[in-house]
Amino acid sequence: MESSTTIESGFRPTGAAVRRHALAWLAASCCAGLLLQAFQLFPDLSAPFAPFTYGRWYPVHTDTALYGWCALPLAGVLIRWYWPSHDAAGSSGEARLCLAGWSLALGAGAASWLGGGSGSKPFMEWSGWTVPLLPLVMLGIWVGLATWTERSVGRLAWHALASRWTLLAVLLPVPFFFFHAAGPSVYPSVNPDSGGATGTSLFGSSLGLIAVYGAAPILLGLARAPARGSARKLRLVWGAWGTMALAFTLAGHGDVSHHRLSQQILLGLLLAWAPLAWILFRSYVWPADSMRWLAAAFGWWCLLLLSGWLGFLPGLSERIKFTQILVAHAHLAMAACVSSAGWVLLLALDSDHAPGGLSFWTWQSAVAVHIAATAFAGWREIVAPGAAFIGDSWIRIAWFVRLGAGAAMTVAAFTWLLEAFRLRSTATPRSTGSPTPS
Ligand code: HEM
Ligand code: HEM
Repeated sequence: MESSTTIESGFRPTGAAVRRHALAWLAASCCAGLLLQAFQLFPDLSAPFAPFTYGRWYPVHTDTALYGWCALPLAGVLIRWYWPSHDAAGSSGEARLCLAGWSLALGAGAASWLGGGSGSKPFMEWSGWTVPLLPLVMLGIWVGLATWTERSVGRLAWHALASRWTLLAVLLPVPFFFFHAAGPSVYPSVNPDSGGATGTSLFGSSLGLIAVYGAAPILLGLARAPARGSARKLRLVWGAWGTMALAFTLAGHGDVSHHRLSQQILLGLLLAWAPLAWILFRSYVWPADSMRWLAAAFGWWCLLLLSGWLGFLPGLSERIKFTQILVAHAHLAMAACVSSAGWVLLLALDSDHAPGGLSFWTWQSAVAVHIAATAFAGWREIVAPGAAFIGDSWIRIAWFVRLGAGAAMTVAAFTWLLEAFRLRSTATPRSTGSPTPS
């Protein structure tokens, strides 16, 4: 496959900086994950670690994965789209400031969770003085992007400027929503309206994710694949998305049971996003080295769609609730699928020095073993309730396997991180002479 990203030489240092920040958080999250696993296997470890015990490391593990490793490549895509190519040097410095602000806010959050300051809501542990940190950084980034758009007046076509301002208008409420959502009465751990996740809410959040990743090739300015009819196919894909978004709006919200056939069908509609995602992402030309990551993300995505839907159905859903099957689902979604998609984005931001085959296969196979061992432990919890608390030997074996797989993932993460820092000192800008995203 032809290497075809639209990376200009001026953007490369910023793309590389996004990679360094994201990988640093992946490495941190993996270390915390290893610690969690060690605490589960050897509870006595808590004594020397006190007060930094399991409950304090948990949000560090999950939130550095989400806000660091998973979110930063997407932030990089946004920065890439707004990038004013006529002022590469100045914009580079501003972009790095944004990235540093993001990492500082997340670092402060992690420090507060380690200090016992967690708000105890999954993925929304920000509490007290840490609540405004990330929203303030988001606002800062928003101002930066608006300034870049202003500076591009006269250099970009009116429709390119209009689409940038439109997205800015959509993004402006995000920091305020985020700040609001951290409040104790909003988004409680157990939703009083429904008792938990509903088909509608899972459908809506998945559609949102699809929109974000589906927009990425456009924001990255990737060239369309030369295949005939790709424009028509893309219209079909986005038409399907629009129809499903309408179905989401019309569907029952709030207290809707998963025993309702309409809920099962609604969530089942997502299965169409196996072929649709294939059509969407194959409609663009990606850097050659990212193709295996794209293929891996697609494979994991198909497994996620099928297992996520089956896990929602009555009979199965009740059995897997609160077991490690859901932990396996979370790792399938984030450590496998989103992580592979993350590398696709990082390589579209800076296609130089892609991870080699060895670390690719180490990560993919270790994640697969991690998920299988976790799902197996979950199955033991189903057939022998309480097994996890009485030292069930099968669960312990699964946890040892997960510790080994986690160690391999951690080695891969550090290899990538060290490589990313090593490149910083040796990097020489290279131009592909490709166009700017419009
Ligand atoms: C990248 C996309 C996704 C991410 C990051 C994600 C993440 C998560 C997380 C973190 C949980 C909570 C796990 C726990 O409570 O221990 C969860 C629950 C769940 N997810 Fe996903 N998921 C994704 C996609 C999907 C899809 C596509 C489906 C369905 C087709 C799905 C179905 C479910 C179900 C049924 C639950 C259990 C909800 C409950 O009963 O509380 N997920 N997901
Ligand atoms: C070194 C590799 C890793 C190890 C050893 C590891 C281990 C663990 C452990 C032991 C838990 C707690 C499970 C429980 O509640 O019983 C956990 C939870 C979790 N991990 Fe990891 N993990 C690793 C990598 C990752 C990565 C790379 C991500 C995301 C990109 C991730 C996302 C999560 C999430 C979202 C949860 C919460 C699951 C839930 O509540 O359902 N982990 N992990």
